[in-house]
Amino acid sequence: METSCDETSAAVVDENGIRGLAIASQDAHAAFGGVVPEIAAREHIRSLDAMVRHAMREAEVDHADIAGVGVTAGPGLVGALLAGVNWAKAYAFARGLPLLGVHHMEGHLFGTALEHEGAQPPFIGLLVSGGHTLLLEARAWGRYRLLGQTRDDAAGEAFDKVARRLGLPYPGGPEIQRAAERSAAARGAAAGEAGAVADGGAGRFRLPRPMLSRRDLPGDAAYYDMSFSGLKTAVARIAEQLEEQGVLADAVDDLAADFQEAVVDVLAEKTRRAVEQTGCRRVVLGGGVARNSRLREGLAERLGSSGELYAPSPRLATDNAAMIAAAARFRLARGERSPWSLNAEAALAFPGLA
Ligand code: KG4
Ligand code: ZN
Repeated sequence: METSCDETSAAVVDENGIRGLAIASQDAHAAFGGVVPEIAAREHIRSLDAMVRHAMREAEVDHADIAGVGVTAGPGLVGALLAGVNWAKAYAFARGLPLLGVHHMEGHLFGTALEHEGAQPPFIGLLVSGGHTLLLEARAWGRYRLLGQTRDDAAGEAFDKVARRLGLPYPGGPEIQRAAERSAAARGAAAGEAGAVADGGAGRFRLPRPMLSRRDLPGDAAYYDMSFSGLKTAVARIAEQLEEQGVLADAVDDLAADFQEAVVDVLAEKTRRAVEQTGCRRVVLGGGVARNSRLREGLAERLGSSGELYAPSPRLATDNAAMIAAAARFRLARGERSPWSLNAEAALAFPGLA
């Protein structure tokens, strides 16, 4: 079960992968311009039964076929998490099954592996979601070294906030991508049929690449750490000037494209550094921002022949229970169990960090 934010999801997995997966995305939040925790929790309680039934029907399994129960225990919205945790506890207790609380971001790593046989440790993991941005080295499943993380806003959070500032609806990530694509298409048209558009940036607004300096050295925390808050503020300042001149609406697509390019540039370069320094060729991308096609393209370009990129499909990049079930399966097989006192933790620490 996965209920950490605004997707209610249940899945059945076995050694061959996904047997059944149901995801209900809550769209009640769009009207409020962001996730409303109370609404999220109530919607989870309402839909979780149906999602479990649907996933089990798709998997063609019965309650007696279930061998263990995994659920997202954090990080996330505590009320939302509690809906899943309590459901999982009740089900596991009633059926006499082992229970395992899963870390949502570790789940995202397993999500990509569900679709790509090659996405196995050792690899560099780049996890980009609405709440987290993590760069890590996975030496084995369950054994990780944190290389860097954002010092302020998560990458997805920056997309959402910039979108809001530009007057685009929530969730902002896909809206920014669409605006950037409109910008690229307009530039393509302006350049004429022969003028292919090389990349996603409009090259119209100069935006900072926070924490990206040639002077950073591999031993510095800044070498891998990220920061997106300053970039968001830089976009807001430009938007304000454009608004005063009354030309913001015409510039939104180009500004979105240049913002997206700045985020992609930072993430791609930090990941390239990790590949270079660790000698680990495989890169596993995960989290909602992995849906961004320019990010996947930019990462592949930057890694070139020195890396192998594994990116999830849009369905598995989005919050889903299959990735949580896969992570739980791995830990349950190692004999791990969560106690019946398992609680939801809004700021659960990433497991297995060395
Ligand atoms: O992993 P996720 O579904 O939920 C969390 O665990 O947070 O990530 C959601 C984030 C949101 O910030 C959303 O705007 C972003 O992923 N996102 C995107 C795209 N699709 C979703 N960001 C950029 N480009 C996209 N196409
Ligand atoms: Zn997520």
